[in-house]
Amino acid sequence: MASLSLSSPSSLAGKRLLLGVSAGIAAYKSALLIRLLKQAGCEVRVVMTEGAQAFITPLTLQALSGEPVRTSLLDPEAEAGMGHIELARWADVIVIAPATADLIARLVHGMADDLLSTLCLASEAPRLIAPAMNQAMWRHPASQRNAQQLVQDGWQLIGPAAGEQACGDVGPGRMSEPEEIMEAITRHFAPPVVATAPHVVITAGPTREALDPVRYLSNHSSGKMGYALAAEAAAQGARVTLISGPVSLPTPKGVERIEVETAQQMHQEALRLAPLAALFVGCAAVADYRAANAAEHKLKKTDDSDTLTLTLVKNPDIIADVAALPEEQRPFVVGFAAETQNVERYAQDKLTRKGLDMIVANDVSQQGLGFGSDDNAALIVWRTPQGNEQFAAPPQPKTQLAALIIQRALKQLSLMTPGA
Ligand code: C5P
Repeated sequence: MASLSLSSPSSLAGKRLLLGVSAGIAAYKSALLIRLLKQAGCEVRVVMTEGAQAFITPLTLQALSGEPVRTSLLDPEAEAGMGHIELARWADVIVIAPATADLIARLVHGMADDLLSTLCLASEAPRLIAPAMNQAMWRHPASQRNAQQLVQDGWQLIGPAAGEQACGDVGPGRMSEPEEIMEAITRHFAPPVVATAPHVVITAGPTREALDPVRYLSNHSSGKMGYALAAEAAAQGARVTLISGPVSLPTPKGVERIEVETAQQMHQEALRLAPLAALFVGCAAVADYRAANAAEHKLKKTDDSDTLTLTLVKNPDIIADVAALPEEQRPFVVGFAAETQNVERYAQDKLTRKGLDMIVANDVSQQGLGFGSDDNAALIVWRTPQGNEQFAAPPQPKTQLAALIIQRALKQLSLMTPGA
């Protein structure tokens, strides 16, 4: 497998980071985050909302950051030291952790009703946000809409993670761990550097299965997700080969494209290239069946029957065959799953059944997402020696989701090739 290296935390040295803390039980984790940031050499200034102070005291965060903590917009003494506009300009980056549903809603609407929201409006710095709330609140369409709007406004979402919550519920909405937030901030300043360009092979688009010389079986896959993944992997420095079914998309810059029509052709190319690759991503919507015998000449309508029976046979499962390659030839394998219900259960099941390392599952019954659309939401599940881990990525442009997927896959790959 090709070797990889990820950026080191030293890229944060000397960076000026404005940390916003709002009212969530996860606010206690902000204390640890500040320690990690200080250890990495960051200058940290903390702004707390009024509610945050019910969870953790400004004094604690002041002691850890080594700077006075700001809590009010209308504090003449603090304003005399560094006015809020000055503070907004000071920041190289704004990070909010934890971010409540209320704060997110206020940011989405451009409100400036406290110091933190005002700073966000006044600053042009890049911004990252780690939501934290009850799972039902996070799943609520209003929160999902708001999260999507934040992303469109240029915010980078960190998490939320799924799991047990302080209120006893289980589901998405937990604030990401401080280490994960650190990683996102570090990555922001120094995107992962690929030491030796790995070869990434991606299947994309639909396949076409001929019924006769003029007709075929196919599906609505646009290829957008696979092409976005290929563009992202190339942008990260990988050597990328895209095995593509028929789509009307331009080949992304720096990507080699191999055009195929049928599942069998895609299967052949995938098995030829996968043993040379570090990462294989099966994003194609491969037809599960093909005609047992495609007619040599155009099928004719007959007068003796109102029905026509086609006999179909199963196509090879491309990704399962790649995942079953012998260890020394086997790349890190990422699959996709389009589901209309029980997304999490089916994703876990498919991960195991096909022997994959990671799966990206999405709910195709959601309007405006998935097939043909520019946006997608996904549950990303990957294996670790300790068991499966997962991340629920909210609705966002496919290009942005592609970056998340490629970064996560390259990270897992680098963890599996120690010494890289
Ligand atoms: O079984 P299902 O089609 O839901 O699995 C989806 C995943 O398997 C995708 O990653 C898809 O690219 C891959 N697949 C494949 N060959 C098939 C069917 C699906 O590689 N024949």
